[in-house]
Amino acid sequence: MLRFFPQKDKYIKEAAEHPFDAALPVPKHIAIIMDGNGRWAQNRRLPRVAGHKEGMETVKKITTHASRLGVNVLTLYAFSTENWKRPNEEVDYLMQLPVDFFDTFVPELIKENVKVHVMGFTESLPVHTQEAVRNAIEQTKGNTGMVLNFALNYGSRAEMLQAVQSLYKEISVESEQPEITEEMIDQHLMTGFLPADLRDPELVIRTSGEERISNFLLWQIAYSELFFTKALWPDFDPVLLEDAIGSFQQRNRRFGGLKPKEEEE
Ligand code: IPE
Ligand code: IPE
Ligand code: MG
Repeated sequence: MLRFFPQKDKYIKEAAEHPFDAALPVPKHIAIIMDGNGRWAQNRRLPRVAGHKEGMETVKKITTHASRLGVNVLTLYAFSTENWKRPNEEVDYLMQLPVDFFDTFVPELIKENVKVHVMGFTESLPVHTQEAVRNAIEQTKGNTGMVLNFALNYGSRAEMLQAVQSLYKEISVESEQPEITEEMIDQHLMTGFLPADLRDPELVIRTSGEERISNFLLWQIAYSELFFTKALWPDFDPVLLEDAIGSFQQRNRRFGGLKPKEEEE
């Protein structure tokens, strides 16, 4: 199926070309770098914040769809530790978005049995943002379905530094020759709240045509499959989510070994 997305005043063809197979497994953990809100608005001669508002609607659609497809964890990169560099007006708008999002969407999250989690340096968020997050976590804590994990004021290097510092504190009181294992680092990262088999995303999607990671889950994506689409985040939709999953389903994940067929040979 061919679909078209406006970009810089012209339409760029984006093909949904990886057939999704409902009989094959879907990734247990999908992480998305939701990029392109500003460009979406600028293409329409609107202020950048109009793109963030529209992007919030995409978050709702994608959350519901991912949950219905049976995804266990959906991690959404909403605000990075570097995004504070943006103009105050834009940062203020982004800090208000979780309030509006949870105000309108918590009933749906409860209906869908989705549990909210937020990972990031939440203590430096404005009080009203912290409160919105806390309420949403509280209101959905009994839900047992998909975990909707927002990365909010999140940065992977700061996350790793914090993990190493807290590990160091713990083990240096316990032993003079402390041993550090991969599992210990894994547990101290912000994804450590998840069961071990769900911490690393199997699939990372980035919208907007940029092909970079921008300080997102650097440890956890060691063997993730990456999917880049030119669609701007407000244009991303359930069909493109299935396209990304379709692409994932066709991939041969080897983890440094050999694919099963080669192993036989
Ligand atoms: C993603 O869209 C949202 C955030 C980073 C908060 P952008 O705001 O980065 O949009 P572009 O990349 O400038 O188009
Ligand atoms: C990454 O997008 C951060 C989020 C999506 C929250 P950016 O727009 O901040 O990334 P760069 O600056 O293009 O790398
Ligand atoms: Mg961007």
